[in-house]
Amino acid sequence: MKCRWWSAAVSSFALLALAGCGGAPTPKMQNEANLDIHSNANPRQVRSTHLDLDLEVLFEEKKLRGTVTHRIERADIAAPFVVDTRDLDVSKVELATAAEGPFTNTLFTLSPRDPVLGSALKITLRPDVTLVRIHYQTRPTASGLQWLEPAQTAGKKKPFLYSQSQAIHARSWIPLQDSPRVRTTYRARVRTPEDLIAVMSARGDFRLANPKEAPTGDYSFRLPQAIPSYLIALAVGDLEFRYLSTRSGVWAEPSVVDKAAKEFEDTERMIQAAEQLFGPYGWHRYDILVLPPSFPYGGMENPLMTFVTPTVIAGDKSLVSLIAHELAHSWSGNLVTNATWRDFWLNEGFTTYFERRIIEAVYGAPRARMEAVLGHQRAVNLVKELPAQDQILHVDLKGRDPEDGATEIPYEKGALFLVALEDAFGRERLDKFLYSYFAKFRFQSITTQQFREFLDANLLSTDLGAASRVPVDEWITKPGLPASAPRPVSDAFEPVDALAKRWQAQDAPESKPETASWNTQQWLRFLTSFPESTNAAKLAALDRTFEFTKTGNSEILFQWLMLSVRANYKPAEPVLERFLVSVGRRKFVRPLFEELAKTPEGLARAKKIYHKARPGYHPITATTIDEVMRKAGAAPSQ
Ligand code: BES
Ligand code: ZN
Repeated sequence: MKCRWWSAAVSSFALLALAGCGGAPTPKMQNEANLDIHSNANPRQVRSTHLDLDLEVLFEEKKLRGTVTHRIERADIAAPFVVDTRDLDVSKVELATAAEGPFTNTLFTLSPRDPVLGSALKITLRPDVTLVRIHYQTRPTASGLQWLEPAQTAGKKKPFLYSQSQAIHARSWIPLQDSPRVRTTYRARVRTPEDLIAVMSARGDFRLANPKEAPTGDYSFRLPQAIPSYLIALAVGDLEFRYLSTRSGVWAEPSVVDKAAKEFEDTERMIQAAEQLFGPYGWHRYDILVLPPSFPYGGMENPLMTFVTPTVIAGDKSLVSLIAHELAHSWSGNLVTNATWRDFWLNEGFTTYFERRIIEAVYGAPRARMEAVLGHQRAVNLVKELPAQDQILHVDLKGRDPEDGATEIPYEKGALFLVALEDAFGRERLDKFLYSYFAKFRFQSITTQQFREFLDANLLSTDLGAASRVPVDEWITKPGLPASAPRPVSDAFEPVDALAKRWQAQDAPESKPETASWNTQQWLRFLTSFPESTNAAKLAALDRTFEFTKTGNSEILFQWLMLSVRANYKPAEPVLERFLVSVGRRKFVRPLFEELAKTPEGLARAKKIYHKARPGYHPITATTIDEVMRKAGAAPSQ
């Protein structure tokens, strides 16, 4: 019976279950199946299967306070229950055998704090115990939470709180087994100040969607599907809702919500395109929450509730591939999850490939191809910059923070690997394979090894001729891009490249009319084709013709500011400062600070700007920029 439970419920442990039932795994298999080096938890002995959260949101103290109750499965009856924590204050732990209680106190210890992993909370169990309730509160410095003052919101009147749990920040706001291979269902009750609304990555009380319904400050959520801890998410603020379709909608601050609804109006078409490709959308609703501009990422695929940066709202839907990306994670990532952070490319590479398939279905092949070319270019550039070991899809993260592995390599090289398979086997066969991959591994967390075995059995071995054209081992375990890697091209970039060349050769060629119809991707191509040595006089001429300094498109502005910093182009300086102070998206902020820090004069400006910007940054971005400044030799600003 116990053997059946393990193999049915937790298939990544199927090998071990077999061992327990008589077979003997090789030591290597055991290692592979056992190890998540980024968690102190002991799910093989005692595994959390469901969480019940009861939290109060205390804006004044910048704390969450309450309890989490774990329902546990015990494979080793003698073992304690070990969960991850980082910077949590645990006051009491109680045990029970049934939900009605009684709950009685038990002993617990916290191990010394490791800067990356935090402290293991070890809880002594008794026989028969199936429920463990932890009383705790968070600290204002919790890395997974950002507490915003009213001034940092669009409305400027009410505070805002949001979480960001990926990769290993969930442990800073909930004591839990913080490994992507541990999946739990969850329920939550969240109490907030009465005039604010709480949303989570779960099903909520949908009366809230009606703006005439007054908020209550007392919210309940439940998620019946088992998910990894990094997908648990909470946000609290002055939020309003707009429907996009019956099953999708957008939450944002009142002054942003209509713009957001317009920008994301194609969401239902994207969901339908995705369903066509990978099977039914299984998460009930698909809603989007627009966060304040300090959100450190572009988007985060929290189930039922994608979190996005407001910088994706360009006014012309030109950056909505980010929505396609987060939506695609509903399959690649949320349904089939990387078992450890070294398997991250299974989440992001597949998702980047799917994102472009969705874009192709909704906006046409030319747009998808342009985005593929831009992505390929980023991969090629990155291969020139990164140390060899960080160019490997199945990256070794021993002794490192899992976010060190979150470069564009897992995204773009991972996507390119799937394109290589598509080229070799044809789209029809690849799609059939991917569909069966989701069917086979749904609601499981899998390793690169499991993917490879499935790929061998279900695609490679069906056509050895095609398989011989894809060096799978090289793609997954070697740095760089294989010589046979696909090189996507786009006709739409031909006039762009031609004009960029003319601009590089002369001062201000006649060019305005032909650019009138260019889209954002073409402008990004144009700007990224200028060499790093482009000087300020050239930028001034470009600016006179195209007014880049005035653009409202965050991606175009970012590329322009990168050129401006390199060339020391003065007229862009006020815009640069405003951008760095108001936007906390790490993908924009980090390269700009790095570029500034390359010259003594730039470093001095970086210090001044960072001093202003840092109080508004999320802890994730602040930690990153602290490191950039430290490496550049600047004294810390706080
Ligand atoms: N899941 C990621 C964000 C993430 C990755 C957070 C690793 C923490 C650790 C999300 O799906 C993502 O990839 N976001 C991208 C946007 C996307 C369009 C490439 C981002 O934030 O830039
Ligand atoms: Zn992603």
